[in-house]
Order: sequence, then structure tokens, then C-alpha cells
Amino acid sequence: MKIAILTSGGDSAGMNAVVRAVVKVGILKGCETWVVREGYEGLVRGNTEAVSEQSLDEEPIELPDNASTDGSSTNLIHNLRFGDGDLLKDGTGDHPGARSLKGRYIVRAGFDDVRGWFAEGGTLIGTARSKTFRTQEGRLQAAYNMIKEGLDALVVCGGDGSLTGADVFRAEWPKLVETLQSEGRITAEKAKLHAHLRIVGLVGSIDNDMSMTDLTIGAPTALHRICEAIDNINSTASSHSRAFVLEVMGRHCGWLALLAGVSGGADFIFIPERPPTSQSWEDEMCDCIHRHREVGKRKTIVIVAEGAIDRNLNPIKADHVKDVLTERLGLDTRVTTLGHTQRGGRPCAYDRVLPTLQGMEAVETLLEATPTSPSYMIGIQENKITRVPLMEAVAMTRAVSAAIEAKDFEKAMSYRDPEFKE
Ligand code: F6P
Repeated sequence: MKIAILTSGGDSAGMNAVVRAVVKVGILKGCETWVVREGYEGLVRGNTEAVSEQSLDEEPIELPDNASTDGSSTNLIHNLRFGDGDLLKDGTGDHPGARSLKGRYIVRAGFDDVRGWFAEGGTLIGTARSKTFRTQEGRLQAAYNMIKEGLDALVVCGGDGSLTGADVFRAEWPKLVETLQSEGRITAEKAKLHAHLRIVGLVGSIDNDMSMTDLTIGAPTALHRICEAIDNINSTASSHSRAFVLEVMGRHCGWLALLAGVSGGADFIFIPERPPTSQSWEDEMCDCIHRHREVGKRKTIVIVAEGAIDRNLNPIKADHVKDVLTERLGLDTRVTTLGHTQRGGRPCAYDRVLPTLQGMEAVETLLEATPTSPSYMIGIQENKITRVPLMEAVAMTRAVSAAIEAKDFEKAMSYRDPEFKE
């Protein structure tokens, strides 16, 4: 089996560990492993004809016993590690590494190529939000490029949008193959050989916003970053007896804000899933913080999830929270928006372990896939690596957002935690 892996959507710590695990385990299981640069965009761009002639397709499959010594099947992606070349501009940089990647978006990867990747932040193979892959024409080209390189399995690591894209691609695959054959772009023999696509999804997102899994890859590291930031802010806040309002990422999910608040000792937390219970969150927050100050606290920390809303579904913004604290409680208040510092940087230990275990499971899942089995998403539930039907997880994730939009917070929480009671 020839497996390709891509990372898609917002990057997250741990994505490189996924690539490393899939490449290494894939090879150990006797597969050929490839990486796709720049997410789905790379799949659409593929390898130019000239480069494809030098394709490594015909090289012998790398075997485990030579993998540790001479496993560098391409050496091409070694260069990605050092950030050489503007990859989205098609490797037009001056560095030899950048030149060697010119016109190559689908690249064979060996053991040595991914050595040490578990400790690298972001995604070394790049990610992009591809507009072309959203079109059928783009997906047709992507299918052609995969077949051209002889690939029959795809691992996608990304958020719910990226995983939905993978499932759509798989569902459409037979039709795409038929079209390619009828247009004379592939032979009947190739069409038969590539009649089905095997796919598997892993959830890479700092937001921890996917249903049917307890944790997404990158969320623990982001939480750790926020925690460190709160520790740093605590000392300066305390010195000046100030209040700080911290805006944290998470899109429509309050997991990062909630857990950061608990682990950093925040005074008040705003999350989308559970808006303040009273009509006036301003009163509720001020009463709480006033009480804390009364018992002698010298500092105040308020955490606002970027998707936080009030009971009427109006956004709660950090600047407004600051004004309320300043005007109503007379606190010297500052706003800190942590931004992308939450997303980048080295993965914490758990964001190396989780992707490694899930990457192993992803390869097993592909090896066991049949044309009729559903597309799977690899998750973790109650500390066990799981396989769940990908579209069920995506549908439930969307149902949470819909419930929040319909102000049915209890229902939204019940999807995230079936035992939840307000
Ligand atoms: O989904 C990950 C995330 O970091 C969200 O928390 C945030 O809202 C968004 O991506 C930011 O996206 P961008 O990097 O495109 O600004």
C-alpha cells in the first residue's frame, strides 16, 4: 500500500509527530510512505510532469532493517526542517533544498526524513486552506495526481472542515476515477487498480472542539502555553494590584479558556458553551471579583474565550470586559491577547505521545479498511485510542454549534459530556 499524509487547516503542535509516526509505522508494516506539502493544495498541484519522470515510484520499498541506517529515501524533505524555500511559491528560494522541492508537492518520505520530528512545532510539511480542493475540478486533479504517483491511501490531520473534505473526496472517488478514465487521463487498468480510496482522519486542532474524542492533537500544548502566560502575568498583576483580561483562542469552543482558568486560578471565565446565567454578566462578574478583592486578593485574572457570548448570543469582548472592570470596580486593568503564541512552539510531552499512538492506529486502520467500511477518525476516549466513524464525529461537532446557536446550552453540553447536568 502507498500511503500519503497531509496536514490541513490551522497548524497545531503534534502534527509533525503524526507525520513521523505514520511514516515510520507505515514503513515497518511494509507500505510506501509519502507526504503531501501544503495540505490539499499540494494534492491538487501534484508533481509537474518533468519531476514526475524522476519519480521515486520505481524505487524498492524501504524495509525496516535498512530503514534506521540508510532510510533517507528522498532527502528532499530534510530541508523543510530548516524552513528553506518559500514552499507556497513552489520552492523558488535559492537554497538547494528549496530548488529540489520545486514542482514537487507529493514527496516520498523515509525513516530519516522524519527523524526528530516529534519535537518540532507547527507542521513541517506545510498547511494551507485550499480553495481549489473545494471545487470538483480541484478534487479531480487531486485524484489524478494521487493515481499518477500510485497512491491508494490518505491520512489527513486537521480540524472538522479538513476531515469532512477527506470524506467527501473518498465518497466521490469512484466517480472521479470514472471521469479520469473517460477523459483518457488514466488507463482502464489504473482505474481498476485505484477503484477505492482508503482514508483516515486524525484531529489536529488546538481548540479541542471535536466530538467523539476527549482530546485533539495540539490542545494540551496550547493549554500549557496559556498556563505559562497566566503564571507570568500573575506576578506582574500582583505587583501592581492590577486586573488582567486574557483573550484566548478556541474558536467556538471554550475548552482552552475553561481549563486555563482552572489551572491558572482565574477569577472569572467566559466560554461560549455556558454563558453567564444572569441577564447582566457585568453584575455577575463584578460581584464575584469584588468578593475576591474583599478577601484580600491583590490581582484579578479574567479569561475570555474568543468565541464567548452572553445569554442573548452577543459576543463578549475582552476590551469591553476591561472597561467594565475599570469603570465599575476602579481596577487598573490591562488586556492581553495571547494570539498565535498559543499555537506555535514545541509540543509538550503529551502532544508527542498522543499523535504517536494515533498515527500507529491510523496505519492499522488503513490496512484493515475495506471498500464498504466507513471512513474512520482516530480519537481517544477514556485514555484508550479509538476509531470512530468520521462523519458521525463531524455531524455531532456541528450539532454542538447548532445547539449553541439555538441557545440550547444544555443540549450543547450534553453532546460534549453526556453526564452533564446544569
Ligand atoms: O482553529 C485553530 C485556531 O487557532 C482558532 O483557535 C483561531 O480562532 C483560529 O485558528 C485562528 O486562525 P488564523 O491563524 O487563520 O488566524
